[in-house]
Amino acid sequence: MPNSILVLGSSNVDLILKVPRFNQPGETIRADHLTTVYGGKGANQAIAAKRLGAEVALITRLGDDHYGQSYRRYLTKKGLNPKSIFLDKKVPTGIAFIELDTKGENRIVVAPGSNSYLSIDDLRKYPPLFRKIKVFVTQLEIPFETVTMGLKMAKKYGALTLLNPSPSRPLSNETLSLTDFLIPNELEAQSLTGLKMRTKQDLPKMATTLLKMGVKNVVITLGSKGLFFKNPYEEIWMEAFKVKVVDTTAAGDAFMGGLACGLSEGKPIWEALMFGNAAGALATTKLGAQPSLPSRKELIRFLKRY
Ligand code: RIB
Repeated sequence: MPNSILVLGSSNVDLILKVPRFNQPGETIRADHLTTVYGGKGANQAIAAKRLGAEVALITRLGDDHYGQSYRRYLTKKGLNPKSIFLDKKVPTGIAFIELDTKGENRIVVAPGSNSYLSIDDLRKYPPLFRKIKVFVTQLEIPFETVTMGLKMAKKYGALTLLNPSPSRPLSNETLSLTDFLIPNELEAQSLTGLKMRTKQDLPKMATTLLKMGVKNVVITLGSKGLFFKNPYEEIWMEAFKVKVVDTTAAGDAFMGGLACGLSEGKPIWEALMFGNAAGALATTKLGAQPSLPSRKELIRFLKRY
């Protein structure tokens, strides 16, 4: 069976500290709880799409250490081909330090480790993976030239390309013109366009600026305020589902997995957005990145309820 989605991106081990509040510079506070889970935007998005029923391959790089070896075993057990999950002998596995407050808001610091060494050569080893895909998904926790090469290869093989510009950084015109769907959150959209979002009415202007920069479709995700979609032919405003938020970590990754899954199944854009919107909402109702990603059954049940 061909892989319909290929994800290129990071894998981190997430150390989650539940804190009563975020501390001040120079202040020491006590965490209520420490949990270790698998994360990283690339692996999260791959697992998100996989749980929703897509055929998925992941190209990523872990350290050849305790964390990396056990993460690779876990990803393989989840059905991802280990051939494109590289182990790096020279650098440690990426680690994300996540502080989570009582409202479910987080602050994240990432030590990228092996993710910084995911190279263009790693991609060249796996052209067969690119040949079979319908949708290609990537983000910015790996070297920028690798992201751009991934987009180039995916376009060469006729795939639909999705770029989640997170964490934020300037993007080249070449990269933007290789992107079919750009999916920033509102902060990333502001930093890419240089425009400020004061009210919802600023969103169409921001999206138009991004379209002029070369992308074909823009989805600006707004957390609890929903999302805004724009391409040259249509605009869609979608509200967020109202849920009880426990932890917002990986909500954006769940959205990406849902959107990619919907598009790979040939769903119309609004339905693929709805799929992503529901996956994102469900991901906020549980603790942790990958443990919070919903299955297809959970998502369908949730959508029926609404
Ligand atoms: O998007 C959430 C992810 O960001 C976490 O899993 C963490 O690893 C960071 O990469």
